[in-house]
Amino acid sequence: MSNKPIGIFDSGIGGTSIFKEIHALLPYENYIYLADSKNAPYGNKTEAEILQLSIKNTKLLINNGCKLIVIACNTATTNAIYYLRSHYNIPFIGIEPAIKPAALNTETKAIGILATKGTLSSELFHKTTDIYASGIKVIEQVGEGIVPLIEAGKLESKEMKILLSSYLEPVLKHNIDYLVLGCTHYPYLIPILTKMLPANVKIIDSGLAVAKQTHTILNRDNLLNSNTKKPTVKFYSNVNVEVLDSILDYKFNVEYLDF
Ligand code: DGL
Repeated sequence: MSNKPIGIFDSGIGGTSIFKEIHALLPYENYIYLADSKNAPYGNKTEAEILQLSIKNTKLLINNGCKLIVIACNTATTNAIYYLRSHYNIPFIGIEPAIKPAALNTETKAIGILATKGTLSSELFHKTTDIYASGIKVIEQVGEGIVPLIEAGKLESKEMKILLSSYLEPVLKHNIDYLVLGCTHYPYLIPILTKMLPANVKIIDSGLAVAKQTHTILNRDNLLNSNTKKPTVKFYSNVNVEVLDSILDYKFNVEYLDF
C-alpha cells in the first residue's frame, strides 16, 4: 500500500503551491496531481456543482490507486470534504483558510481574508471563523477574477495589479495586521502583494500546515512510502499544460488528460 501515490486535486494550477510544500516535506512519495482547469474557477459555482466536480476528481484519483487524497483547494474542501470523507474509504486532507493563527496573533484585532465566493459563503468557513475568531474583526473580501487571470498565466499583469489594489483598499481601511490567503492560487501572488501591502501587514496561508498534516496522517496510518528510489510525480491538466508547466518551473512531467 505505502508505495501507492498521494492524489492531489485543485480547480487548476493553484494547488501546486500546496504540492510544493508537501513534496518538500515528503520527497520520496509518488504523486498524481489533477489540475481541473477546464472547470475553473470553482469559486463561483454552486455547492452542488463543486461537490460533483470534487467527486469526479476523487473517483479518478482512487481509480489510479491513490492511498490518500489532498484536496488542494479551499473551495472544494469547504464545500465537499464532509461528503467525500463519508463516502470514500481513504484519508482526505483538506485545506481551509488560516483564520486560527491569524486570529491568535493579531495585535490590531482585525484580520483580512481574501478567498473565493464559494469558500466565504460555505458553512465550514463560518464555523471555523466562529470558533477561532470570536472577538476579532474578520474582513472578508471575495477575490473575483483572480483565479482566471492566474490560470491564463497573467500573474504579473497590469490587470492583476489593478484587481488586487481594488480588493486591498477596502480591507486595509480596517487596520488589519494579517491578510489570510484563502485560496491555493493566491500564494503565487505573495511577491506582488508584499509590494502592495503596508509593512505591518503579514501574509499567511495554509500550505505548510497541510504538508505537516499529510505527513501526520500517512505516519498514523502506516502509509509512508518506504521505497526511496525514483519516486514518480505525474501532473495532468485538462486545459493549459504550458501554464502548469511554467508554474512548476518545468521540473516535472506535465501531460494533457481529458477528465
Ligand atoms: N484553488 C482554489 C481554492 O483554493 C481556487 C478556487 C476556484 O477555482 O475558484 O479555492
